[in-house]
Amino acid sequence: KILILDFGSQYTQLIARRVRETNVYCEVHPCDVSSQFIHDFAAQGIILSGGPNSVAEDETPRAPQAVFDLGIPVLGICYGMQVMAAQLGGAVETSKVREFGYAEVRAENRTALMRDIHDRTDAEGKPVLDVWMSHGDKVTALPPGFKVMISNAATPNAAIADEARKFYGMQFHPEVTHTLQGKAIIERFVHEICGAGYDWNMPDFMEEAIGRIRSEVGTDEVILGLSGGVDSSVAAALIHRAIGEQLTCVFVDNGLLRLNEAKQVMDTFSRNLGVKVIHVDAGKEFLGHLQGVADPEQKRRIIGREFVEVFQREAARIANARWLAQGTIYPDVIESAGGKTKKAHTIKSHHNVGGLPDTLHLKLLEPLRELFKDEVRELGLTLGLPHDMVYRHPFPGPGLGVRILGEVKYEYAELLRRADAIFIEELRASGWYEKASQAFAVFLPVKSVGVMGDGRTYDYVVALRAVKTEDFMTAHWVELPYTLLARISNRIVNEVRGINRVVYDISGKPPATIEWE
Ligand code: XMP
Repeated sequence: KILILDFGSQYTQLIARRVRETNVYCEVHPCDVSSQFIHDFAAQGIILSGGPNSVAEDETPRAPQAVFDLGIPVLGICYGMQVMAAQLGGAVETSKVREFGYAEVRAENRTALMRDIHDRTDAEGKPVLDVWMSHGDKVTALPPGFKVMISNAATPNAAIADEARKFYGMQFHPEVTHTLQGKAIIERFVHEICGAGYDWNMPDFMEEAIGRIRSEVGTDEVILGLSGGVDSSVAAALIHRAIGEQLTCVFVDNGLLRLNEAKQVMDTFSRNLGVKVIHVDAGKEFLGHLQGVADPEQKRRIIGREFVEVFQREAARIANARWLAQGTIYPDVIESAGGKTKKAHTIKSHHNVGGLPDTLHLKLLEPLRELFKDEVRELGLTLGLPHDMVYRHPFPGPGLGVRILGEVKYEYAELLRRADAIFIEELRASGWYEKASQAFAVFLPVKSVGVMGDGRTYDYVVALRAVKTEDFMTAHWVELPYTLLARISNRIVNEVRGINRVVYDISGKPPATIEWE
């Protein structure tokens, strides 16, 4: 296995995903873990991530000394290369020009790491690569034992190597897809240089996870809040495979779900997989508490609190329950240097099942804690969940509650459900559903004048939103074809009486957020 030390780069999780994609297990830990931790982790190799700081300044993070004392290969990326160079006796300077974006680099020396890896060769026959740079600082003097591996005019030490100790440093980012040979470089590092085997794969993970769940849980009963989202669905399917009847899922229908969603969830789990699911129809209760409330944050709080209440009530009926299962996934778990130190603003108070365990006195079962989203999906397919469920867009916990602007009313929810279903149906039929990361309709509680046939209408507006994003932190709106938008608009206005106007949201994030509330 590989240890990744995080210096706060926005790409750290990508490094981990790339390593996992080569079928090697890895974990991300903050750069300030103890030397003892590093010894005990027993990695076959270590990768030092990039980071936002400057090695040229004092008081910026350094790697624990153990990283360089264990006699195992180390790959430093960007800031990771700079700390390695600085700590091993080289020099790093802040250069006036930042280098950002594509760069063409040449291999200067043959190394075990880069052997045969290139995009093309230049006139002198030297291997050339297109890579992605993003840095201000540069390594200006190599530490003893190092040689230049890759260079270009702007960055003479674009990559360096001490082959005797198997220490490598790269100023560019092999983990991003813009570096075309990045995958090959990472694969070469973890397999050939570190000697890791191809032993991380989904069928094996599944068998091991099933074994772990069985031995942890024993004969206890487990409850799980099933939302119909990817994570809780896969967790439910996995745990059910492990302990069958000992698992009870609670599916809370808050009245703010999409069209036919409750039925789909019940069909998939209860009918097809034979999972015990308690379907709680709490729509009236939720909408009752939301009556007269227009403030988005207050709505979120009410929906979150209500969920906890309903869930607890149901959980209390499952007398022997000792465990609460959750679909927590690795990105939720990683205590990255970035996540820890850069405390983000609360733009929206997202809710999930997180508030439950304390009050319920249940032990936590989180079998997906080690998996990235794409691995969770793969596991879902391995477990036999339907493709559409495993690849569905994310849906916020408060559901349509944050897609009906202002006060939530049953009438609004009904109109929105039908408009949204038409939008999604048309996206799926035209192949655009997969191209978008998230798409949905938003209900605007304003009326505008229209004309249908010979009559005047005075009805509500629906906004359509489709975005493309990697991490949901930033997003672009999707350039859907006009003909498709026209068809969707036409269908919504014709089929959903009460809506006479459809608009398309062309705002990016930032400055807008993905949801409207
Ligand atoms: P925003 O609107 O903040 O959304 O750009 C980013 C992503 O988070 C989802 N989202 C939520 N998910 N509870 C959730 O579980 C929430 O309260 C919530 N609010 C937004 C949103 O759908 C998008 O995928």
